[in-house]
Amino acid sequence: MTYFRKNITEMKGYTPGFQPAGSDVVKLNTNENPYPTSPAVLETLGSFDPEQLRRYPQPMGEKFRETAAEVLEVRPENIMCTNGGDDLLTICFRAFCDSRHGVAYPGPTYSLYPVLAKLQNCAITEFAFNDPDLFTKLADNGAALNILCNPNAPTGALITADQMSKLAGKLEGILLIDEAYTDFASENCLPLIADHDNVIILRSMSKGYSLAGIRFGFCIAQPTIINELMKVKDSYNVDAVAIEVASAAFADQSHFAQNVKKVIDERARLTSELRDMGLEINDSQTNFVLAKCIDQNAGDIYEKLAAKNIFVRYFNLEGLTDKLRITVGTPQQNDALLSALKEIGK
Ligand SMILES: Cc1ncc(COP(=O)(O)O)c(C=O)c1O
Repeated sequence: MTYFRKNITEMKGYTPGFQPAGSDVVKLNTNENPYPTSPAVLETLGSFDPEQLRRYPQPMGEKFRETAAEVLEVRPENIMCTNGGDDLLTICFRAFCDSRHGVAYPGPTYSLYPVLAKLQNCAITEFAFNDPDLFTKLADNGAALNILCNPNAPTGALITADQMSKLAGKLEGILLIDEAYTDFASENCLPLIADHDNVIILRSMSKGYSLAGIRFGFCIAQPTIINELMKVKDSYNVDAVAIEVASAAFADQSHFAQNVKKVIDERARLTSELRDMGLEINDSQTNFVLAKCIDQNAGDIYEKLAAKNIFVRYFNLEGLTDKLRITVGTPQQNDALLSALKEIGK
């Protein structure tokens, strides 16, 4: 006897990355930024008016919409604030997918997509990222919602804005471009929203802005799309503290750019040192690298690292069982990882 819908009892929930307790751990498993957020955030928290806690927050996070619109050179009407990028994904699945309207995406990719699809009871069409006919197949598949994670997680690969624009022009359904990791990439798809009324761009404050704990994301699209998505979101999906904090961090583009540069520089060093150790790594456009383990089982390496309080991500999923996803840390964290890998003979 169950009270739940069949698709709920039959599905597995999303498995979030392990959050180890204690400060003596090297945490390279959930793609957080290793550097602190903007000092402007601390000032904002220090001067936060408690009266704002008694009241409901701005339903549309107007302060953030205005701040982001100015930086990104779009209009506030092009932006919807969300409770992390994940909230936008939920909103899109609720808005576009049901038992008659499916989702399509190339994999391997973010493991939350199939979970949300199962909640909506919608059909999933999964293509292979390395399929030479990927774009033709996507263009012809007829799904209501097409998701391209760009740069992709967990592979770190980037599809160019030009390729993405051609795809958007051919699709009948929505093209949701998940740009959670775009802060570390050489280009992004923001310009596409001017010409395509079916493109939604997801952004996150968790990565480049070091604010994973505050849960803030947003999307950029044409106002016709934003207005409909607004109907689907929770009335107050971003809280008063988060709006202030996210606005302060986004306004401080210079602190953001410095942190991003440090991560990108370390990404290059980590990639090259891991390659020297014999691990196979494709160039990454994100704040993590996906390392293919050659001499030892990836699951075993994961366990041995965890025993040394070094946490990376291992996915027991098709196409990923021989790989470890490693977040780019500070130089000290990366050194700790590299020496631990040497000790365990990786
Ligand atoms: C590909 C991808 N999209 C979206 C998200 C959502 O990020 P958040 O909800 O922290 O903004 C993540 C989080 O790691 C992600 O990896």
